[in-house]
Amino acid sequence: MFDTTKKIGVLGGGQLGKMLCLEAGNWDFKMCVLDASPDYPAANYCAEFTSGNFNDYDDVLAFGQDKEILTIEIEHVNTEALKALEAAGKTVHPAPAVLEIIKDKGLQKNFYQEHGIPTATFELFKDEKALIKAVEKGKWSVPFVQKTRTAGYDGRGVAIIRTAEDLETKLLKGPCLAETLTPIHTELAVIAARNANDEVEVFPPVEMEFHPEANLVEFLICPARISPLVAAEAEALAERVIRTFDVCGLLAVEMFLTNRGELLVNEVAPRPHNSGHHTIDSAITSQYQQHLRAICNLPLGATTQRTPAVMVNLLGHPDYSGPVLYAGVEECLAIDGVHIHLYGKAVTSPFRKMGHVTITADSVEEALEKARIVKETLRVIAHTQK
Ligand SMILES: Nc1ncnc2c1ncn2[C@@H]1O[C@H](COP(=O)(O)OP(=O)(O)OP(=O)(O)O)[C@@H](O)[C@H]1O
Ligand SMILES: [Mg+2]
Repeated sequence: MFDTTKKIGVLGGGQLGKMLCLEAGNWDFKMCVLDASPDYPAANYCAEFTSGNFNDYDDVLAFGQDKEILTIEIEHVNTEALKALEAAGKTVHPAPAVLEIIKDKGLQKNFYQEHGIPTATFELFKDEKALIKAVEKGKWSVPFVQKTRTAGYDGRGVAIIRTAEDLETKLLKGPCLAETLTPIHTELAVIAARNANDEVEVFPPVEMEFHPEANLVEFLICPARISPLVAAEAEALAERVIRTFDVCGLLAVEMFLTNRGELLVNEVAPRPHNSGHHTIDSAITSQYQQHLRAICNLPLGATTQRTPAVMVNLLGHPDYSGPVLYAGVEECLAIDGVHIHLYGKAVTSPFRKMGHVTITADSVEEALEKARIVKETLRVIAHTQK
């Protein structure tokens, strides 16, 4: 029986939580969200909002008591409490044991190595001083990439160390890993979904283009401009990775297509992902509906793309901070195929993710052309310049 009364608890009330709640409304699911403030994006779109800290054991445990299914929109949550809820018979997707591996980039990289999943060569270090010693001994040399093991997101835990001077000024503090600087031809993201019946469906690969300054995805292009053979390989790799992790729900697999044509797994996220926003407007099943299907053990939906799409993140303008204003929305809405999504964050700051726009068109080229216009026209600003 399809039971719409059971409560689904979501840790995190940001934009991903909001879009998950919006989709859940179609099936009348009772979405319940835990996050710090009822001002956050998901709060107005869920059946129940609980103020609390998703990193706090007691808060998460208390939140989970009357929920049947628990899921996340952010990895950095209290996994001990999720384990206790799992032991008490709650359905928790993704499993807390897997979350613990994914939360720590060191454990994540070890996992790839142990399971023969291709990934850039790496070594773990106690802290940046141990890494410097390894450089002095000639074990590592510039250029390389340093990543902090925990708490990195949106490129904040990543330092590209190119020169001896970078070694002195750019190294990040704390437990970390060093990784070979990979010559990247294209960055791809492939979102896979798996349910408890072990069905797997994979969305077509998405090509990511980065903002040079903010290290955030700027344009996201689907279908990716890669050969059908590479696309099939990327999909097969994503399927292998989700099966190896045994994740129920979504798993977004970020990959590098190297200049030598190899595919390497960079990192994964076991939740809806920035690279899947376009599916709302351009795929038969959106990533959000797919996540709900997967965590509720429903049949997975078709992942076929209905139309080419380009997604643009709406980032806070670098010169503005404060209560948000959106300029150029009307001009953009006048363009065919422009789908605007504003997250509802009250305050903007430089490069903050405030929304996104998906542009659908008959070809990727046409969508890209319109996306460039949208990027120039739609600006996220505030009353006063900072
Ligand atoms: N080994 C590497 N070689 C070359 N570039 C890399 C390497 N690792 C990371 N990068 C670059 O840095 C970006 C951010 O790295 P990564 O995805 O690991 O960090 P993150 O902070 O988790 O980022 P996000 O939250 O944006 O996904 C990558 O998308 C890629 O552009
Ligand atoms: Mg990443």
